[in-house]
Amino acid sequence: MVNCQKKLFHLPDDVSYLNVAYMSPLLKSVETAGHRGVSRKNLPYELSIGDFFEPTEQLKQLYAQLIDVEDKDRIGLIPSVSYGMANVANNLSLKSGEQIILVEEQFPSNVYAWEEVARKSGADLVFIPSPLTIDKKADEWNEAILDAIDERTAMVALPHVHWSEGVVYDLKSIRDKTRRFGALMVIDGTQSVGALPFSVKEFQPDALICAAYKWLLGPYSFGMAYYGEAFDNGLPIEENWINRLNSEDFAGLVNYQPLYKPKAQRYSVGEQSNFIAIPMQIKALEQLLEWGVNNIQNYAGDINRQPLLDLKKIGFGVSDESQRSNHLVGVKMPEHIKAESLKKALLEKKIYVSVRGKYLRISTHVFNTKNDFTGLMDCLRGFV
Ligand SMILES: Cc1ncc(COP(=O)(O)O)c(C=O)c1O
Repeated sequence: MVNCQKKLFHLPDDVSYLNVAYMSPLLKSVETAGHRGVSRKNLPYELSIGDFFEPTEQLKQLYAQLIDVEDKDRIGLIPSVSYGMANVANNLSLKSGEQIILVEEQFPSNVYAWEEVARKSGADLVFIPSPLTIDKKADEWNEAILDAIDERTAMVALPHVHWSEGVVYDLKSIRDKTRRFGALMVIDGTQSVGALPFSVKEFQPDALICAAYKWLLGPYSFGMAYYGEAFDNGLPIEENWINRLNSEDFAGLVNYQPLYKPKAQRYSVGEQSNFIAIPMQIKALEQLLEWGVNNIQNYAGDINRQPLLDLKKIGFGVSDESQRSNHLVGVKMPEHIKAESLKKALLEKKIYVSVRGKYLRISTHVFNTKNDFTGLMDCLRGFV
């Protein structure tokens, strides 16, 4: 169990921040680590060879623990989801008529790379539409995804949790079906990893790509990517020195080395030993592991369960808890509500959520309390 942790953040008392899916605030400890990282650059003579390698290895070890994978060498450090997906795209060899399965309105960083792959190869992108039902949305969506996987499927590229609707996809069943047809399963974990348990051992994705600035409570321009065996002999999108074997030997760097470090290490970005971002992300992961991801998910449910039931009673579309995550919930607004005026009213009260079309996205963390929902509910009641 975890209690409210607001004291560990800088959020002011008059702000209700319910928008972690947009951008998380930093923990105070993470901010301090970042400041320390900035200051270290003042004394470059104190940076040793070990500083280029040890913190990255520590970080990969912590992340491996978070996503339940034994071997930290399966993890690469990346600046963005698009970068992590580009590494996947670089190693696909699709044929005309093959298919990549996606879901409707998934985040563009998990779409554009496949558009390009499809354009070059003649493969097709198949977007599985969001079912109209609210109550059984995940059940119906998962069924439609499973139905679409067949001998034409080369890859399924999905999120674990839909970034605007909060629907949770049944990755275990999807993995089983892709295996039957020899298709890859690539997951964007940006809106789930850190807040909803993810086990590589259980879901066995071929790649799991995550940006760090939301549920991993990390800095912007940073992320982590898991690549499985399918990518062990692949080519990275850039050739940097640090990913080559024995790069620790600074004196021997111009004995040009043809071999990469094993497994996923070839896919890390150049200058991956970021002396500011890495210590920040280490602190953030230590804290997430201490709280426990399952506890973070349960905490979100504890504080939003009643308000969501109340919203349903006054005409908002809220799907059943079995169909969605707790940390990120997409609530459908009644037709007559004007998004722009609602946004304005919420901002005046310093209540931060995402308003997208007819959906209100409410996303919480352990700094929130039930009180954050009081103002939100008052405001929404005024609109129905
Ligand atoms: C599901 C998802 N993936 C990825 C990203 C960010 O992608 P990138 O790191 O390529 O900017 C976001 C940002 O909102 C997101 O919601």
